[in-house]
Amino acid sequence: MPDGAHTQGTAHQAASVRPGTKEDVAAMARIHASAFDDRSAWSAASILHLLETPGVYVLIAEENGEPTGFALMRAAANEAEVLTIAVDPAHRRQGSARALVIAGLTAALAVECDTVFLEVATDNDAARRLYQSLGFAEAGRRAAYYARGDSPSVDALILRWMAESP
Ligand SMILES: CC(C)(COP(=O)(O)OP(=O)(O)OC[C@H]1O[C@@H](n2cnc3c(N)ncnc32)[C@H](O)[C@@H]1OP(=O)(O)O)[C@@H](O)C(=O)NCCC(=O)NCCS
Repeated sequence: MPDGAHTQGTAHQAASVRPGTKEDVAAMARIHASAFDDRSAWSAASILHLLETPGVYVLIAEENGEPTGFALMRAAANEAEVLTIAVDPAHRRQGSARALVIAGLTAALAVECDTVFLEVATDNDAARRLYQSLGFAEAGRRAAYYARGDSPSVDALILRWMAESP
């Protein structure tokens, strides 16, 4: 586990995580659609386009050989970013997202990215608890960043994880 990626009360066995490839794009689009609403879901074409972008990599969580979640990341210079993370609702609270983020941080460190950023909606309690448990801390805020239909938009928190100095 990377320095600083501490866990709190992990009750589940770590999910199986592997690096993803373009072969996983259809499964990623299916999982993304199951995790986000129609307006926010990413198509297979847009995911494939991202995967063809320099520095972008993906981690896949799977169960019995079937993808159940993924984290899409981008590394550039000495920083990385979590572009999106999603776990199929039928496979949540089993440690998949935690295992995906830890694998993503490990991969970032392997290419000398010691700082990792992401954006999370202020009303996304599950994701905020996940990131907090892994050592991410608030680094900024974008006001009214995520639309919520007829309800008021919510802010995005910019979270940052930094590897501990040796
Ligand atoms: C957020 C998400 C990726 C979590 O996936 P997951 O595999 O269920 O998460 P994990 O089982 O690894 O949970 C790790 C920790 O996160 C927190 N957490 C996860 N889901 C939670 C929930 N519904 N309520 C409260 N805390 C939660 C807990 O601290 C949990 O640790 P614990 O189970 O030991 O208490 C998943 O809910 C999801 O796909 N949501 C929709 C997409 C999304 O919001 N992505 C993030 C955008 S920034």
